[in-house]
Amino acid sequence: MKLVFATHNKNKFHEVKSMMPDHIELLSLDDIDCFDDIPETEDTIEGNALLKARFIKENYNIDCFADDTGLEVEALDNAPGVYSARYAGPDCKAEDNILKLLTEMDQIGNRKARFMTAISLSIDDQEHMFLGICTGMIIEKPRGSMGFGYDPIFQPNGFESTFSEMSLEQKSEIGHRGKAIQKLIAFLSGV
Ligand code: IMP
Repeated sequence: MKLVFATHNKNKFHEVKSMMPDHIELLSLDDIDCFDDIPETEDTIEGNALLKARFIKENYNIDCFADDTGLEVEALDNAPGVYSARYAGPDCKAEDNILKLLTEMDQIGNRKARFMTAISLSIDDQEHMFLGICTGMIIEKPRGSMGFGYDPIFQPNGFESTFSEMSLEQKSEIGHRGKAIQKLIAFLSGV
């Protein structure tokens, strides 16, 4: 089965492809010659995931799924949430977002946070939604060199390492996107 993962993010594509069983041939947006800037204008991660999957289905007429992820920090009323990508401003880098978050959390004792991923699947003219959550805490200084985004400052509950100090396999097993992808795979495998 051919399925497009509607992302331009090579890190995410690699992470998700490594989890896919053999019967699913995962295609990237490059593989279908899609270089569009897909809109992310909704105010929920579920809404953005749906918007992106519909965009690909409508413009390229191929089965696909899209994801959207938000980092929710309890002490910041769940910010940055759906605005995680542009927390420090439009076109900002991951380091800018990390710096802004650590600055906002200076002097804040409650470090509880969670990542939430929504995956919207568009297949055979039907739409399905899968969610994955990973709870943890925001540490005070970035640690580790792997992963991307907020990984260096997020330590999942029950672990001493940040996501940036974990292998891809371990992050996929316990992480938000991995959990949502596992639900997607179970659905596609008819479990
Ligand atoms: P998007 O939904 O993939 O666009 O991600 C929104 C924001 O969250 C971006 O700033 C990403 O870098 C960040 N992000 C998404 N997934 C992860 C992750 O697994 N670890 C760390 N940051 C992430």
